[in-house]
Amino acid sequence: MRASFADLLAEAGARRAAVGAFTCYNLETAIGVLRAAERRRRGVILLLGEKSFRGPGGELLAAALVAAADKAAVPACVQLDHVSDLGLIERAFECGAGAVMADGASLPFEDNVDFVRAAAGLARRAGGHVEVELGGIAGDEDVARAVDAGALTDPDEAVELVARTGAACLAVSIGNVHGVYRDPPALDWPRLVAIRERVEVPLSLHGASGLPDSDVHRAISLGIAKVNVNADLRRHYLEATGRLLDEVRPGARVLELNLAQAHAVESAVVAKLGVYEASVEERV
Ligand code: 13P
Repeated sequence: MRASFADLLAEAGARRAAVGAFTCYNLETAIGVLRAAERRRRGVILLLGEKSFRGPGGELLAAALVAAADKAAVPACVQLDHVSDLGLIERAFECGAGAVMADGASLPFEDNVDFVRAAAGLARRAGGHVEVELGGIAGDEDVARAVDAGALTDPDEAVELVARTGAACLAVSIGNVHGVYRDPPALDWPRLVAIRERVEVPLSLHGASGLPDSDVHRAISLGIAKVNVNADLRRHYLEATGRLLDEVRPGARVLELNLAQAHAVESAVVAKLGVYEASVEERV
């Protein structure tokens, strides 16, 4: 069933857990993610990348993800991820997205405020929500390359950005990157604590691929309520594709390939959702 973005985050936060948010490039990925969430009996967020939405068939993919969320046996929401174009944001809400990640992190602070306020206005009209980013989470969202961390989130500016925009969620930059960590991840825990103590809305952690489970546990115990994953799922999807390709070539058995891809994503997401639900006692 389709659910509100803010409700999903609030519900996870109240349990001191985090809701998983997974990038879906096609229906096979979405089916895998939703089956995993159903097995875990947890709400989930289907992320739609900006380039996927902008590309050919983008609105059809959005419609398919929204339909999949509607039919899921668990609460689910579609979010357009990392978008800095108000036209795309408006279209995403028209397609049924429940949230957008209005990414003005590369803009000067005042421009970021103006951009997010405009995005929040569009969200309000649609009954949706906006996530914001402050600092700069480095790395490409669709191509995994080794990168160093970008600019870190300033806790004072974070308070101001959220207060002036009405954002429902803040994506923190505390040493996390999209794709591949060039060096072993070294998240800035005191910074996360300072942000959590001061910012009232739920916090999200992007770039969870490549983070050890112990870091994810710790981030959740320090107040992260949403964890974004993409590159790891792409790897599982491609590994399954590579494994099956020769086997399915005789007879051109594409359906079997699609089922294996969905299954690979499902197994990976079941494991990850277990990490996001681990009891507080288990966390380091
Ligand atoms: P990873 O690709 O590093 O998992 O990051 C995903 C993400 O943060 C999407 O917004």
